[in-house]
Amino acid sequence: MSDLVRLSLSLEKPLLDRLEKLVRRSGYTNRSEFVRDMIRERLVEHEWDEDREVVGTITLVYDHHVSGLSEKLTDEQHHHHRVILTTTHVHLDRAMCVEMILVKGRASEITELADRLRQHKGVLHSGLSASTTGARIR
Ligand code: NI
Repeated sequence: MSDLVRLSLSLEKPLLDRLEKLVRRSGYTNRSEFVRDMIRERLVEHEWDEDREVVGTITLVYDHHVSGLSEKLTDEQHHHHRVILTTTHVHLDRAMCVEMILVKGRASEITELADRLRQHKGVLHSGLSASTTGARIR
C-alpha cells in the first residue's frame, strides 16, 4: 500500500451530516475508507468514459424456446471472443436461461457487445455491471 497523506477539506454542515449518515448506513466504521471507496467508484466510471481496458459482467435472461435465439447469442459471443473471459449458463426453469458473461477489454467493445446481445428478440432482461482491472484505482 502506498503512503497515506492526510488532507482536510471544507464542507457545508448539512452536506457533512448527510455524508456521516451515509457512512453509517453503508456499514462503514471509518469515514476515510468510505471516501476512498467513493473516489474509486468515480475513477472506475471515468475509466469507462475514457474507453480504457476494464472488467465487467453482462447478465442476460432469455427464453431459449425463441427460435434461433441461443444460436444468435452464441454467434455474438464468438464474434467478440477476445473480450470474453468466461460464460456461465444456468437453466432457470423449462424455458428461461440466465447467462453471465465475464468480460475484460476496451469499454466501448464491451458496451457494444452488451447492446447487441440485449437487442435480440427473446432476451427479457440484460444488465451490464461495470468494474475495473484495478490497475488505475490503487
Ligand atoms: Ni438454458
